Amino acid sequence: AKILILNGPNLNLLGTREVATYGTTTLADIEALCHEAAGRHGLAADFRQTNSEGTLVDWIQSAKGDADVIILNAAAYTHTSIAVRDALSAVALPVIEVHLSNIFAREEFRHHSHVSPVAAGVICGFGADGYRLAIDAASALLDRAKT
Ligand code: DQA
Repeated sequence: AKILILNGPNLNLLGTREVATYGTTTLADIEALCHEAAGRHGLAADFRQTNSEGTLVDWIQSAKGDADVIILNAAAYTHTSIAVRDALSAVALPVIEVHLSNIFAREEFRHHSHVSPVAAGVICGFGADGYRLAIDAASALLDRAKT
């Protein structure tokens, strides 16, 4: 089985971006951690990042028939993008929403997510480890679907 791991805008800057909030782990570190965690479960991981909302929509659309689960950190598009949400509804794959920071402990505008209503579950506030937790959750979800 295959997990598509999608990252939205500004996550390419992890490691140097708002270090107090997001830590010093880089996106390359997170990618390595994801491949390792997926491998432990015998899953393939396709890890991507884009700053563009349209590209995120394109990638979600093309997941249909290709991936079994989507792990999504849509970053700021989480709070703004109905297009991303509609794409997730269209492909109807299980989605696990991830945020490094605890969005509920931050500014009011981060408290609402357009992704959460169409997600199987949400992991936020555990930093880069959230990606590992999401992969563990994806594996459990796929096991449950099999039985
Ligand atoms: C984020 C939280 C968002 O509110 C923010 O816009 C991001 C990163 C996180 O991973 O904590 O860019 O998704």
